[in-house]
Amino acid sequence: MKRLFSLIVLFSFFQSAAQLKPSDSIRLENLLKQMTLEEKIGQMNMYTGNIFGDDPVFTADFKYDDLKNGRVGAVLNVNGIKNTRLLQEMALQSRLKIPLLFGNDVLHGLHLLFPIPLAEAASWDIGLMEKTARIAAIESSARGNNWFFQPMVDITHDPRWGRVMEGAGEDPYLGSLIAAARVKGYQGNKLGDTNSVMATAKHFAAYGAAVGGRDYNTVDMSNQELWNVYLPPFKAAAEAGASSFMNSFNTLNGVPTTASSYLQRDILKGVWGFKGFVVSDWGSVGDMIAHGYVKDAAGAALASVTAGVDMDMEDQIYKKQLPRLVADGKVPVELIDDAVRRILAKKFELGLFDDPFKFIKEERWQKAINNPAHIATAREMAGKSIVLLKNEVPKGRTSPVLPLSKNVKTIALIGPHIMSVRENLGFWSPWWPDDSARIITQYQGIKNKVSRGTTLLYAKGCEVSDTSTAGFAEAVRIARQADVVIMSMGEQYDMSGESRSRSDITFPGVQEALIKAVYATGTPIVMLINAGRPLVFDWAADHVPAILYTWWLGTTAGGAIGDVLFGDYNPSGKLPITFPRSVGQIPIFYNHLSTGKPPKNDSVAYYRTGYIDLMQNPKFAFGHGLSYTTFEYSSLKMSDSIIKSGESVRVSLSVTNTGKVSGEETVQLYLRDRVASIVRPVKELKDFKKVVLKPGEAQTVIFEITPDKLAFYNEQGKLITEPGEFDIMIGSASDDIRLKGKFELEG
Ligand code: BGC
Repeated sequence: MKRLFSLIVLFSFFQSAAQLKPSDSIRLENLLKQMTLEEKIGQMNMYTGNIFGDDPVFTADFKYDDLKNGRVGAVLNVNGIKNTRLLQEMALQSRLKIPLLFGNDVLHGLHLLFPIPLAEAASWDIGLMEKTARIAAIESSARGNNWFFQPMVDITHDPRWGRVMEGAGEDPYLGSLIAAARVKGYQGNKLGDTNSVMATAKHFAAYGAAVGGRDYNTVDMSNQELWNVYLPPFKAAAEAGASSFMNSFNTLNGVPTTASSYLQRDILKGVWGFKGFVVSDWGSVGDMIAHGYVKDAAGAALASVTAGVDMDMEDQIYKKQLPRLVADGKVPVELIDDAVRRILAKKFELGLFDDPFKFIKEERWQKAINNPAHIATAREMAGKSIVLLKNEVPKGRTSPVLPLSKNVKTIALIGPHIMSVRENLGFWSPWWPDDSARIITQYQGIKNKVSRGTTLLYAKGCEVSDTSTAGFAEAVRIARQADVVIMSMGEQYDMSGESRSRSDITFPGVQEALIKAVYATGTPIVMLINAGRPLVFDWAADHVPAILYTWWLGTTAGGAIGDVLFGDYNPSGKLPITFPRSVGQIPIFYNHLSTGKPPKNDSVAYYRTGYIDLMQNPKFAFGHGLSYTTFEYSSLKMSDSIIKSGESVRVSLSVTNTGKVSGEETVQLYLRDRVASIVRPVKELKDFKKVVLKPGEAQTVIFEITPDKLAFYNEQGKLITEPGEFDIMIGSASDDIRLKGKFELEG
């Protein structure tokens, strides 16, 4: 056992020291030599501040005492120049003057709020996501923060799970690109730049597969699913240089991930050669007692430090238990040194030993916020996150409802979200400044677009979630007077997020009844749906002619929605997650494994994977998203139909804008491995390209199917490629495949 530890420690020492300047490595080693065991364990201890309050920064006095005596390595939920300065000054009163790390959940921006992460994922615009992450880092790093608990890279198949809003949806390929982009955005060119913050990939691992979508719940999963679906975004984050990893609240196959040596030591620090440190999730070390995995705090500390958890968030278990465990010889001091070395290495890399106050600069903060270029990026991202789910020609008309003319005579604006500020921002925006004046409501965004001759009528109709229908009559009255109705419905800002799972993900309250009442007037409706997850709205999806999924778009929501409604921006978003028809259809996702009874059609019994009372396909498929123009796919060409191992296939096709306005299309490439030693998915996204085309314009799109795109992980977590036939499917959505081909990989 001891020998194993030494090997691990030796290996990880070289790994963690590798990124440091040689002079900093020497400083680190000298520092480590001077540290007492208590001071070392102090670095592994993290405390929360008073998240919403200013005063006191800590609600418990012992924390100040620990800080001044070198028993705290990092804090979270401490915000602002004043508070971070106060605590950093206290940390520097300690014997060895080791500066603090300041961590925070800045899920989608700090002062300037971007669309929630799931909404941004709908843009499929990887470069833009890196840019919004960069801006979040620029703002936050000027206000004392040097460590983000993002990106959240958990794949999920369950929209009931409240935390679906924090991630990038259901697809491992798209999720991996986004994970890497966000890490790069947060960390900038390099740690050590004043506007770079450390990124954390969380929650390691498989947290998104919680049974029933109930938060913190159990996960039991095969290794092949873990490796092929849930781990790839984490691997991508590690490869992009994420500084830290956070583990998760769930068990994985019976073991709390906090105690999982398989995940944290073998895979992360071993196979992937991760150089940063692992932080527990809030209290996840102590949670193992409630799990029934360990009997007491000492057992929890032993299990987690052995499994590779370097820092204990808020639990005080490391602080209280590790000294005795080391004294008793149960935890080798080399293990403590390894953890401390990893943490200190990041503090050196950030430059905190040279200037502990480098992130605490009022002048920078004032310059970083309200930056017009940043606001323009947020607006661009908000526009690109909107998904046009449906746009039909209403009865008696000749063209689709959207885009609206700016000269419509009368528009009725109905719904609980039209005038709201908070509902555009969404969950995980606790730091949003209470200056609602700078946030444009949807009402204002629409008003800014229409001509002076347009009359806007407004009726709230109902609240988000109560049962009163008292406002219906007024809503119906104004709908009757209008040429078109814009209804803005959905969830309240705190209905998705941590511990916000819902069993029923239809519109809360009486919203659906309001839609039906307004629909009965016969005035065409455009619906805006604001939510932190895919909602189920089968009736509205079948009846309302135009639907825009607007998620929670952040500070610039109103402006971006106005742009899309009136055609100043042609929507280009594509769903990063499947939208089910009903709650009973969950989990439903596009890249499921092939079954032995592939569905024929809805009426053929014994050949369906669905239900007798529901169509088999989802309401809106992964990758779906319409435009105000149309695109034609043609001329598929392949460089080869048979390739040898290590060779690539080049695929080209032509995409033409066949409509009347310019637009952006996301051309999606899916593959299917026909026969393999373990059953493979019916299709998997392997690449995509964006093209921006003027009306009538055509462009050749080229995909290079490289050998890595043919590989998969087996049950042992080994990446393998097997010879055989592969189907190529290229289309506008996972259920809208326009061109097909196939090739063979020779044995
Ligand atoms: C969440 C983490 C978060 C942490 C700190 C936990 O409850 O699961 O995602 O980073 O709190 O706020």
